[in-house]
Amino acid sequence: MTLISKHSMNLYSSIPQKSYSETPPSQNPTCQFLKRRTPLALCFQPPNTLQKSTLDHKLIISGKSELSGHVEISGSKNSALAILAGTICSYGISKLHRVPDLSDTRTMMGILRSLGARIEFLEGEMVVDTEGVCSVEPCSDLVGKIRAGFFVIGPLLARFGEAMVSLPGGCDIGARPIDLHIRGLRALGAIVELRHGKLHASVANGRGLVGGRFHLDYPSVGATETLMMAASLADGVTELSNVAQEPEVSDLAQFLIASGASVERAGRHTLIINGRKRLHATEFTIIPDRIEAGTFMAAAAITRSSISMSPVIPFHLADVINKLSAAGCRVTQKGPHILEVSAVPATIGDDLQGFGFRTYPHPGFPTDLQPQFMALLTTCNGSFTVQESVFEARMRHVEELQKLGARIRVGRNSATVYGKDQGSVLHGSHVVAPDLRSGASLVLAGMAAEGTTEISGAVYIDRGYENLELKLHCLGANIKREPVTSIENQILAAFI
Ligand code: EPU
Repeated sequence: MTLISKHSMNLYSSIPQKSYSETPPSQNPTCQFLKRRTPLALCFQPPNTLQKSTLDHKLIISGKSELSGHVEISGSKNSALAILAGTICSYGISKLHRVPDLSDTRTMMGILRSLGARIEFLEGEMVVDTEGVCSVEPCSDLVGKIRAGFFVIGPLLARFGEAMVSLPGGCDIGARPIDLHIRGLRALGAIVELRHGKLHASVANGRGLVGGRFHLDYPSVGATETLMMAASLADGVTELSNVAQEPEVSDLAQFLIASGASVERAGRHTLIINGRKRLHATEFTIIPDRIEAGTFMAAAAITRSSISMSPVIPFHLADVINKLSAAGCRVTQKGPHILEVSAVPATIGDDLQGFGFRTYPHPGFPTDLQPQFMALLTTCNGSFTVQESVFEARMRHVEELQKLGARIRVGRNSATVYGKDQGSVLHGSHVVAPDLRSGASLVLAGMAAEGTTEISGAVYIDRGYENLELKLHCLGANIKREPVTSIENQILAAFI
């Protein structure tokens, strides 16, 4: 079945969908992050945003439950965060539909409010009035909590000719530099300096940003988004090459186009942006969260269950679906936006076979699903290698999975995962979520484990999953949330 929706009709839709698999990411030299060189001043470790006071919940899972039924997938976190930054480019009242209610989106709302925006948010519907934005300096504490907080630098600079933004936070999964954002803004005529931990940006000509050409050494999602927003209000034409292909990037482009911007593709990796004097408010629906959908697919597989989910845009998850199918899962498209994933042994005829994989920028296997799929591999047959090529420190879940009985040998950016026939036997234990996606992988492992698993640090999971335990509970998982005691809090704060 071909999937044509409002969401798939984006600026990338003129490219046949099969073209997503035409160039194996492994042949793209820019995918090798180890080859990149970043000036030290622009390379920093994100602050550990887990505060003692917020270490307040744990998830308790009794394992071995079978899942069934249907789950609704929320709007995309990373799309919503970028689009919220994008609202600063326009004047007036924008309406956003399917905004996920997450701690990260709440933080982003705080950042916009600190600039003077007025926001109302109720049950996924958000009204953002950016007419009164009057500050160019967002609240540093809030920017320091999430990566996307930094993305406001582009819109602020483009609209006001000035911005003062602190270094961003986000999950501790690598150095996460911002050199590409800065070099790109400089190519559009900005002066950007780091002073006392804050970036001071202004326009060199005293009037506004000017169109320019910039080649991203690496197809960074955030840098592509920052520059796309900035270029939308620059004077003249901007050419951005080697841009990120992630669906969230194209969702932001669609939002900007709906706001009056001119963003076009020239070939597969280049964007041409014709700057406009002013963008207007608009109404827009956020795409479904492909990472949440992928997590539920892994949940069906790891519990050897059958569940359906919607809305999903399957071609956003092509590589993930291929891997699951190769492992023996039955993935069926039941409607334009409905997927069913079955791993029930009686239905699929055999148990799941493991698979190796390497993460890549889209359309490769998403780094944001690496920890969850590593958990799944521990329950499959065989031993396989998982390689992380997007972030250099995204293996923190391994130690926690090991506490649950997983047999994994970890290297710098790769891990050999031994399946259930090679020594992995999952059993309940007390573990700590070290970051968002690692937390999700522990939830999945806990559901497949014998006995009870307690996962502290649910605050991380709340950053990116809307009602995860409620959704899993409705599918039949035995999962509940409890506050952690103050003593547990102290032990965990010392531990993390
Ligand atoms: N990079 C640079 N220089 C830059 C920017 C990035 O070298 O100026 C490097 C990073 O160090 C990293 C690689 O490029 O090794 C990829 O980073 P990218 O900029 O693409 O990621 P991001 O914009 O920081 C977004 C998502 C992440 C997701 C990545 C990759 C948001 C808010 N975050 O981060 O989401 O993993 O793209 O797809 O959009 C998550 O949801 O759990 C998450 C971490």
